[in-house]
Amino acid sequence: KARLGILLSGRGSNFLAIADSIAAGRLDAEIAAVISNKADAPGVAAAQERGLAAFVIEAKGRKRAEHDAEMIAKLREQGVDLVCLAGYMRLLSPEFVQAFPERILNIHPSLLPAFPGLDAQRQALDYGVQFAGCTVHFVDEQLDHGVIVLQKPVPVFEEDDEHALSLRILAQEHLAYTEGIARVLSGEYHVAGRRYVKKRPA
Ligand code: GAR
Repeated sequence: KARLGILLSGRGSNFLAIADSIAAGRLDAEIAAVISNKADAPGVAAAQERGLAAFVIEAKGRKRAEHDAEMIAKLREQGVDLVCLAGYMRLLSPEFVQAFPERILNIHPSLLPAFPGLDAQRQALDYGVQFAGCTVHFVDEQLDHGVIVLQKPVPVFEEDDEHALSLRILAQEHLAYTEGIARVLSGEYHVAGRRYVKKRPA
């Protein structure tokens, strides 16, 4: 069974959606570690409540490479095969990215490459797009960047504020992450150029 390592910084609703998918038999994997860079993240408390291996590795005031080396060691110790960023709001070091080649996923609340970074839903509203959504992608050394595994669009309505749009996108995030992880774990897809496509039979 694939062993997932979840990195988060806050609420943890994407982590919980993944945990629920596993519990419901929709995703054949197990959560081997949940790591938060913030001690007060609700996501890490939720992980403890569920009896999962949960760790706080504080990032504040530390060099990125040093903090990330500690996370790499912890993920290796827990035998993690696939790292899933779930609201992990800190850029990863090149060392971290290179430690798990094609084995780190992120979810972002926009249709990338539009609106990377913070407050993607606010950016989408300010720009005036009529469709928004979410993206599950492999992580490279740039922020919210890397080969796209799966996207889900949602409409933007005239009366939307940031809260309404964020909720609509979040509902799709919770479906998309499980589907994206399953796609990666299936072994049926590969990276071809910038695209993530089904392997052809040999
Ligand atoms: C989610 O909307 C996720 O897509 C976003 O943070 C939120 C975390 O919520 N991530 C990013 O913006 C990454 N750049 P959660 O803690 O409830 O999963």
